[in-house]
Amino acid sequence: MDKSGPESTLLPAQIQLEANKRYYWCQCGLSQIQPFCDGSHRGSGVNPMAFSVGETGPVLLCVCKETGNPPFCDCDKSFITPV
Ligand code: FES
Repeated sequence: MDKSGPESTLLPAQIQLEANKRYYWCQCGLSQIQPFCDGSHRGSGVNPMAFSVGETGPVLLCVCKETGNPPFCDCDKSFITPV
């Protein structure tokens, strides 16, 4: 994936997830419902990453696709305003 595209300027998404539910994180950057997969990857050669969390609660998911710990954001969180 091209890391210099417009997605590299996107902020992470703070989202409430349910424990033990399967989610699909978009790895291609084409989804219109970031950070989740909407099927737009078809034909790109990139597939979504299935994941779940052990506890219900808020998580910070990567949107820029540059994280070293997918699907979670691994950036400096100091610029994020709590909601
Ligand atoms: S739309 Fe990006 S992986 Fe499915």
